[in-house]
Amino acid sequence: MKNSPSAGQLDHKYLWHPFTQMRDWLKTEPIILERGKGSLLWDNTGRKYIDANSSIWTNLHGHNHPKINQAIGKQLDKVSHVSALGFANTPAAKLGEQLIRLAKPRSRFPKTEPHLAKVFYSDDGSTATEVAIKLAYEHARRTGRARTPRFLSLDGAYHGDTIGAVSAGHIDLFHKAYSGMLFKTDRVASPYCYRCPFNKAKPERADARKYRKCNMECVDLVQQKFERRQKIGKNYAAFIVEPGIQGPAGMIAQPKGWLAKVAAIAREHGTQIVADEVMTGLGRASSSYFASHAEKVQPDFLCIAKGLTGGYLPMAATLTTQAVFDAFLGEYEEFKTFYHGHSFTGNPLGAAASLASLSLLESKKTSQQRVRLQKSLKSLSKPLWKLDAVGDIRQSGGVLAVELVADWKTRKPFPLSKQMGIRVCDFMAKQGVLTRPIGNVIVVMPPFCTTQSQVKKIFTALQAAISATT
Ligand SMILES: Cc1ncc(COP(=O)(O)O)c(C=O)c1O
Repeated sequence: MKNSPSAGQLDHKYLWHPFTQMRDWLKTEPIILERGKGSLLWDNTGRKYIDANSSIWTNLHGHNHPKINQAIGKQLDKVSHVSALGFANTPAAKLGEQLIRLAKPRSRFPKTEPHLAKVFYSDDGSTATEVAIKLAYEHARRTGRARTPRFLSLDGAYHGDTIGAVSAGHIDLFHKAYSGMLFKTDRVASPYCYRCPFNKAKPERADARKYRKCNMECVDLVQQKFERRQKIGKNYAAFIVEPGIQGPAGMIAQPKGWLAKVAAIAREHGTQIVADEVMTGLGRASSSYFASHAEKVQPDFLCIAKGLTGGYLPMAATLTTQAVFDAFLGEYEEFKTFYHGHSFTGNPLGAAASLASLSLLESKKTSQQRVRLQKSLKSLSKPLWKLDAVGDIRQSGGVLAVELVADWKTRKPFPLSKQMGIRVCDFMAKQGVLTRPIGNVIVVMPPFCTTQSQVKKIFTALQAAISATT
């Protein structure tokens, strides 16, 4: 009798993986992940791994969490999906209330900061930012702020893979090929201290944000962008930014105060702020639930995805103000409706998982876990500075990144063609630690429940991998 093909064989035969050179993929046996518990994953041969990347930055509380499982199970017994076109459902409505509450600043913010009042659901990070971009565009037109609204975003920006999100993105490797399909957006330098365009942070063995000697000249560049636009009698509709740390750009962690300063410039010019907190949100990248709040910035659009369901199901939300909502109100025949939506908008299973995840997030246990994880990442990554191939180690909350370089004294990068990041991560996988690089940057972002000894194992594997590979 013929054996049925293995999952690996079926994968190789039928699947096409995202952001993956499939020629390389087809050369090796894939790791087939089958089971998870907490920060651990097991493959189909029983090998155990630490999920040091939170399954592409999604998982907050660990895999197979009984509370989230139970919430999904309970909802499954009722109904798994109903349409948000024409109908309401209880989990989605309750989640809306919780998200608005969670997004309310806990401390005193400047009075000028907007108040988030409405939630528009979609499916993933790309659609969350796409919704914000479309709403900001149309809001700018309807309020007479711009006839052909223009957006400003950062060098290295990545807001997803739908066309609006790609238009606002500035990673040439991903986006250039599609330039013919995109609308024009402006870009401005991000506060990449380690590779400061003004060379205000000469290499040392510490996070470049700490030893930089500058007056935040990068903020002046943002100011100049706005002034240039003003000079021609125009204005940006919105400034799109990842608060705290720019993830896919290579985990570019912002120096304290930068976001508050650039947000103030945007406000002065009457420009709305879109905060892409797809990665940073829900306690991942700061001690606040949202990284913008750590800088006392409340955006006009707050985009949440990845961790919303605890990393269980695809679900996203774009939060916005009453004023934006009101701009779309009118008599039916005025056709001011926001004509946008997805089949799974407001999915009750996702909403039930999200409610359980938010309740965990706000528990005392999780807040202690978050503090402990942030401390472990900080202290246990220190030995990496001994390695010559480590150029920069930067951390924002529970996100840590190690930038590998050919020469730390000159910051000379490894050529991308050497695939140093990929090789280091492949080595780590053999040591039982899973993560994924961004070029030469190794990401360490495990779930909140990751213990100190697991963090230690992650860095032991990373150190061995860098030593063996570079
Ligand atoms: C900051 C940011 N925005 C948007 C996205 C797109 O999210 P998704 O992959 O869920 O579409 C990502 C994904 O990594 C992200 O990191």
